[in-house]
Amino acid sequence: MTTASPSWSSRCALISDNAQGFGCTLNGKATTDWADIATTSFFPAKPLGCYGDGGAVVTNDDRLAELVESLRVYGKVTPTDAAERNFHHDPKYLSLRVGMNSRLDTIQAAVLLEKLKIFADEIQLREKVAARYSAGLKDHVRRVPHIIEGGQSVWAQYVIEHDNRDGLQAHLSSQGIPSMVYYPVPIHMQDFAAEWAPPAGSLPVTEAASQYVIALPMHPYLPEADQDRVIEAVRAFNG
Ligand SMILES: Cc1ncc(COP(=O)(O)O)c(C=O)c1O
Repeated sequence: MTTASPSWSSRCALISDNAQGFGCTLNGKATTDWADIATTSFFPAKPLGCYGDGGAVVTNDDRLAELVESLRVYGKVTPTDAAERNFHHDPKYLSLRVGMNSRLDTIQAAVLLEKLKIFADEIQLREKVAARYSAGLKDHVRRVPHIIEGGQSVWAQYVIEHDNRDGLQAHLSSQGIPSMVYYPVPIHMQDFAAEWAPPAGSLPVTEAASQYVIALPMHPYLPEADQDRVIEAVRAFNG
């Protein structure tokens, strides 16, 4: 373990938000190949979901791992802190930085350990669902998902674009088929971001996509008959 400066508190780190993409790769490499840290979510709707709330931070950097572990437990003293300073009493309950309580429940960890064993298989099953959707829908909607060359998606969602997205959603709903519009308002146009985000109109691709996107049912065990029902319902909508 190195104690070289500058300390992480004075450096920038590149963070990859992998909440929807834990397990995705580009040319066989995970995002931790180019980012200092990858964060992910184990919320049940995510590709690797637990049975409640959970998440993880992944890094190949020992110093960052130490720091994140400290932040996870109220800014506790790390082994590096302990090596660099003399504490007059047991530093176990000392906080050296502002942290939080962000422990993963043991029960959630137990669920995740089991699900991790089949995670790679589940990605392949999702891939098959996505391929069937794309084959059935590519000529009938504005756009089906496109994966860049060398990329492996984990298909957290299967999102199409449709010219009459709201009409399609109502049509699917009338057929008992659930769908979701996850991001109707782009982040830079949400109130919380007003102070620092670029103004509306500055991200035309994002802004256009937010009008058209709709996520179709997607999970590794979606039966082919259900996939066909979704495909037929989308194709039958002429709105
Ligand atoms: C891209 C992205 N980042 C972060 C999050 C937040 O994850 P959590 O709710 O587990 O904190 C989500 C959840 O949907 C997400 O999609």
